[in-house]
Amino acid sequence: MVIKKVGVVGCGLMGHGIAQVAAQAGYTVVVREAERGFLDKGLQRIRKSLDKLVEKEKLTRADADASYGRLTGTLELADLADCDLVIEAIVEDLAVKKSLYKELGQRCKPATIFATNTSSFPVAEMGEASGRPKNMVGLHFFNPVQLMKLVEVVRTPKTAENVYAEARAFGESVGKVPVAASDTPGFVVNRLLVPYMAEAMRMVERGDSTPADVDAGMTLGCGYPMGPFTLTDYVGLDTTLSILEGWQKRFPKDPMFVPPQILKDKVAAGKLGRKTGEGFFKWDGDKRA
Ligand code: CAA
Ligand code: NAD
Repeated sequence: MVIKKVGVVGCGLMGHGIAQVAAQAGYTVVVREAERGFLDKGLQRIRKSLDKLVEKEKLTRADADASYGRLTGTLELADLADCDLVIEAIVEDLAVKKSLYKELGQRCKPATIFATNTSSFPVAEMGEASGRPKNMVGLHFFNPVQLMKLVEVVRTPKTAENVYAEARAFGESVGKVPVAASDTPGFVVNRLLVPYMAEAMRMVERGDSTPADVDAGMTLGCGYPMGPFTLTDYVGLDTTLSILEGWQKRFPKDPMFVPPQILKDKVAAGKLGRKTGEGFFKWDGDKRA
C-alpha cells in the first residue's frame, strides 16, 4: 500500500504539528477534533507555524498555502474511514485511547494503519482494542513536531512487517529520522527523560535547589537546550503526570515512576505549563515571562 491520505485524531499540541508536517510532505490530511473550539485553535496554530516558516525563509508562501490547502478539519470520525494511515494524538489516557481505537476499528477500511503518538502506554493494548493488532504501530513524534527531527517507531509482537515498514517510511517522508523502539514503557527517549524530569522535581521538593537553578545547571553545564522544568512546562504538567501515574499503576514498586507531590499539586491547581500560562514558570504566550 502507498500512503496517500492521512487522518490525525486530536489537534492539540502534538496533533496540530503532526497534521502540519504530513500536509507539508504532500499528503492529503484530515484532522479530527472532539470540539469545534479545539479544532479552530489547532488549525490556527498550523497557520501561524506555516507563517513563521515562511518568515524564516524555510518555506515559500506558495508551499505554505498549498500545505494548508491539503488539510481539512472535521468533528466526524467517519471522515477518517478511507484514510491509509490514522495517527492518534489525543489525551494521554489509556481508557479514552482504547475506546477511540475500538471505534476506529469499526469504521476504517481494512487496510488502514493505526499509529499512536502515546508517550507511555502499551501500543499492543491499543492494537487489541482496535481489533486489528497487525495494523497497529507507535509513531512517537517529539514536541515541537515541526522542529524535532526524531520519530520513534514502535513495533509490538503482533505488528505486521509491512505495517512497520510503511510507518517507518512515512516518518522519513515527513522529514524525521526514525528510530526503532520496543513496546516498553516510554520506549527509548521517555524512559530516560521522564524519570529525569521527576528527579528534578524531587530535588526541588527537598529544598535542595530551585527550578531556575536546576534549569541553569542543565543548560549551561550540560548543553541541554532546555532545563527539565522549562521542558515540563513545554510538554504539559498534566501529560507528564499522566505518564508517571500510568507507569506507577503498572509498576507500583518502581521508585522512579512515583509522581512527585509538587507535580500533583500544580496540576490540581490548573498550572499545566505553557498552555495555561503557568507551570513551574510563568509564560507570556509561547515565551517564558
Ligand atoms: N513552528 C514554526 N516555528 C517554530 C515553532 C513551530 N512550532 N516553534 C518554534 N519555532 C520558531 C520560533 O518562533 C523561533 O523563531 P525566531 O528565531 O524567529 O524567534 C525559532 O523556531 C527557534 O525557537 P525558539 O526561539 O523557541 O528557540 P530555540 O532555539 O530554543 O528552539 C527548540 C526551540 C527547538 C524547541 C529547542 O529549545 C529545543 O530543542 N528544546 C528541547 C525540546 C525537547 O526536548 N522536546 C522533547 C520534549 S519530550 C517529548 O516530546 C516526548 C513526550 O512524549 C513528552
Ligand atoms: P493536548 O491536550 O494538547 O491535545 C490533545 C487533543 O486531543 C485535545 O485538543 C483534545 O480536545 C483532543 N481529543 C481528545 N479526545 C479526542 C477524540 N476522541 N477525538 C479527537 N480529539 C480528541 O495533548 P498533547 O500534548 O498534544 O498530547 C497528545 C498525545 O501526544 C498524548 O498521548 C501525549 O502523551 C503525546 N505526546 C505529547 C507530547 C508533549 O510534549 N506534550 C510529546 C510527545 C507525545
